[in-house]
Amino acid sequence: MNINLKNKVAIITGSSQGIGKAIAIALAQKGVKIVLNGRNPEKLNQAKLDLFEQGFEVYAVQADVGKYQECEQLVSETIEKYGQLDILINNAGIAMEGSIAETSPEVFENVFHTNIMGVLFPTKAALPHLKKSKGSVVFTGSIAGYMGLPNYSAYSASKMSLTGLVQSLKIELAGTGVHVGINYVGFAENDLDKTYYDAQGNIKPMPVRTQFKRMPLSEVANYFVKGIEQRTYKQTLSAIGKFTRIMQQYFPAIFEWAMIKKHKKTMSN
Ligand SMILES: NC(=O)c1ccc[n+]([C@@H]2O[C@H](COP(=O)([O-])OP(=O)(O)OC[C@H]3O[C@@H](n4cnc5c(N)ncnc54)[C@H](OP(=O)(O)O)[C@@H]3O)[C@@H](O)[C@H]2O)c1
Repeated sequence: MNINLKNKVAIITGSSQGIGKAIAIALAQKGVKIVLNGRNPEKLNQAKLDLFEQGFEVYAVQADVGKYQECEQLVSETIEKYGQLDILINNAGIAMEGSIAETSPEVFENVFHTNIMGVLFPTKAALPHLKKSKGSVVFTGSIAGYMGLPNYSAYSASKMSLTGLVQSLKIELAGTGVHVGINYVGFAENDLDKTYYDAQGNIKPMPVRTQFKRMPLSEVANYFVKGIEQRTYKQTLSAIGKFTRIMQQYFPAIFEWAMIKKHKKTMSN
């Protein structure tokens, strides 16, 4: 089965940059009408302009996905503008770095709020419309949802919780015609504007990761599009993503031993 996406309407949360913006472009290339979202109005307008200049049908709604009323607004403005909603991509998310011992409680709260409530709220607000259109709701997971990574505890725990949320939703929506999907992204190229919380809760620019092969954003986006067209439940992106899933599933003790060794080496440098 390959769904024709032409003239469908999609909200992509956290799409003013990075993976979300790349998904928006890839869907727009299939003829999807795009609703961009983010909190920072300048970034959001710039992204809207970028898509508009490429000739795509695009609208933007500034909303914080961690606030339920703003998610309702995001959905109602979409319906006002386009009259329907076929696809919701729950992509907005925030990263952190720091050991559990060093990290301030506020960082845990903020990361959990954005990465879990920030996917639950848009989903809840969009569900009546997605049921009507028998559409798709797709979540941006991470390989940190397979294995708790050292110094990324809040992030890993939030991405693991996402799996639970998606499993519950899929069962609840069985028989409604709504497609539920989750894509476990490996290391992707970062947008130059990507930020993260340090242990004290300061928002810092994310350094470019050179130690891992990073998947180009357009390639990540193409997996999302293919997943919607084929109504796939789970996809694990990149070789490192697949390696993590298999190691954690079949060889957890060896994998943990290797991670401890690597972590100790990193901490001693
Ligand atoms: N990059 C990777 O290697 C990687 C790997 C695995 C999974 N992921 C996941 O992929 C998703 C996107 O990551 P990315 O690397 O593209 O991040 P990014 O470059 O930091 O982009 C995040 C986007 O989300 C928006 N956002 C953040 N908090 C928001 C909120 N509360 N409400 C609305 N929008 C919000 C940001 O705009 P504003 O700040 O203006 O709101 C921005 O548009 C995340 O869920 C992340 O966990 C990324």
